[in-house]
Amino acid sequence: MEEEHRPNSDSSSQGPAVGRRRLITFLFGFSIVATLGGVLTPIIGYLWPPSRATGGKSGRVQVGLTADFPAGQGKVVPVNDKPVIVVNTAQGGLKAFSAICTHLGCIVEWDQGRQFILCPCHDGRFNALNGAVISGPPPAPLPQLALTVEGDTIYVSEGQG
Ligand code: FES
Repeated sequence: MEEEHRPNSDSSSQGPAVGRRRLITFLFGFSIVATLGGVLTPIIGYLWPPSRATGGKSGRVQVGLTADFPAGQGKVVPVNDKPVIVVNTAQGGLKAFSAICTHLGCIVEWDQGRQFILCPCHDGRFNALNGAVISGPPPAPLPQLALTVEGDTIYVSEGQG
């Protein structure tokens, strides 16, 4: 048997093979890391959720500054993870109500143009002064919540207003 000797034949043929092997190893490792990240991130987010502003024992939560609610404007804000609509009414000043419609539980919104609280699901309409039903299918008024202003800061608590 005659052995053929080719100088540098191994190194020239291994160069691209080693490069491909490294690339495949890199891509495989990257896909494992990406998969683990995609699986672990929601699990960690579920086990350690971000902290939210809550009112503690008193249930009182800062919902904004008076400058955030010019006269005739309103918006839905979270209070202890529940939606609350705060409105600065032209006649009665700042008011807060549960933003959960008493019909089927949709979240109400402030109708800036018509100056009432609107449930977009079935066109339920509520008075922004007292939460009373103006029209539509809601069977009961929106529960009013306690709202206080200290300095220029507005607080809402879950107790009845
Ligand atoms: S859920 Fe609000 S009007 Fe029906």
